[in-house]
Amino acid sequence: MSDRPAFQPSTLVIHSNRVYESQSNSILFPIHQTATYVHETVGVTKGYGYSRGANPTVNALEQSIAAIEGSVSALCFRSGMAAISTLCLALLKAKDHVILSEVIYGGTTRLFQQVLGNFAVDYTFVDTSDLAAIEQAIRPNTRMIFIETPANPTLKLTDVKAVAELAHSHENILVAVDNTFLTPLLQNCLALGADISMLSTTKYIDGHNATIGGSLASHDETNMERLRFVRKILGTIQAPFDAWLTIQGIKTLPARLAMHCSHAGEVAEWLEKHPRVAKVYYPGLESFPQRELAKKQQSAFGGMLAFELNASTDESLRFMEALKLCTCAESLGSVETLITNPATASHCDLSQELRDRLGISDRLIRLSVGLEAPQDLIADFEQAFEVVFGGAK
Ligand SMILES: Cc1ncc(COP(=O)(O)O)c(C=O)c1O
Repeated sequence: MSDRPAFQPSTLVIHSNRVYESQSNSILFPIHQTATYVHETVGVTKGYGYSRGANPTVNALEQSIAAIEGSVSALCFRSGMAAISTLCLALLKAKDHVILSEVIYGGTTRLFQQVLGNFAVDYTFVDTSDLAAIEQAIRPNTRMIFIETPANPTLKLTDVKAVAELAHSHENILVAVDNTFLTPLLQNCLALGADISMLSTTKYIDGHNATIGGSLASHDETNMERLRFVRKILGTIQAPFDAWLTIQGIKTLPARLAMHCSHAGEVAEWLEKHPRVAKVYYPGLESFPQRELAKKQQSAFGGMLAFELNASTDESLRFMEALKLCTCAESLGSVETLITNPATASHCDLSQELRDRLGISDRLIRLSVGLEAPQDLIADFEQAFEVVFGGAK
């Protein structure tokens, strides 16, 4: 465990990497935009040899992320997908078997189906909200259970603690959690028993749509050493400037998350009452089937929701296009409210049959609720309903 002071999260994200640069005492940690580092004498460095292996600015971001994960260390990557790819290439080998949540980010599905499968890594997509289904899928060569909770885009939840207990009752099965939708501040996966916490820092951690990045954290320093080593081989480390921007973003993460959660709750409740809305998926709603699990393992319900209109796919897409304040763009977790249609974006590679089975209908709309005033977002929905349907009824 870490020996950092037991500060609250809002203090940790600001002060966990506080070291002032000696020339000017600049309050911001500098951008070490450098490929290499001068040797003090031949073969002797100050701990940094080459920026593919490590970089002080990236390391400063890693300290902030480790602080909120509650781990000794964390590693930052060029993207969330670079983090997941490095994790798999570092800790898996040919003939290993992985169990994955069947509702999961489309890029993770593509990584297994179109890349790792070619290297004889075996995998099974399972409804990980069903513990018995996971147990049934475990084989003697199962090495990892990779879950995403809440899952993109239906917000389906998996019980992290229960999966970790099941995995650890077997020999040599790691549990990795993609915690991008909540971050460790709203759901601490390592504390719930997971072995690896993964984040796409592109989303809430940066929060401003300024960078692409990812991170991995674990309490197991042997795994962290292996991940650091393979990251250096693959060259998947975060770039210094992107790390620096992300350091500025993470300082406001606790404040932003509180607003994201309260705005999303307000918008979800308003949408659920609207006669043109057929269904809203938001863990904070009484109607959400896994609300109790959300209350158990999350400290708040998050800023993401999805909904379906009481309308055709064509009308639903026209509704999205009619929005003026909500921005139609991929990604999530930023100050701007972003809206997407998963069937034509993140999950377009899945077959229609599979999407239908997973509840990712063609008309499903995913909303990442930003920091704009909720009444302005609601007014935007009102005007879009008016454009497409000429009123609520
Ligand atoms: C849940 C989730 N995991 C992983 C990723 C991949 O992250 P990145 O785009 O930073 O590579 C995304 C991207 O949208 C995501 O939504």
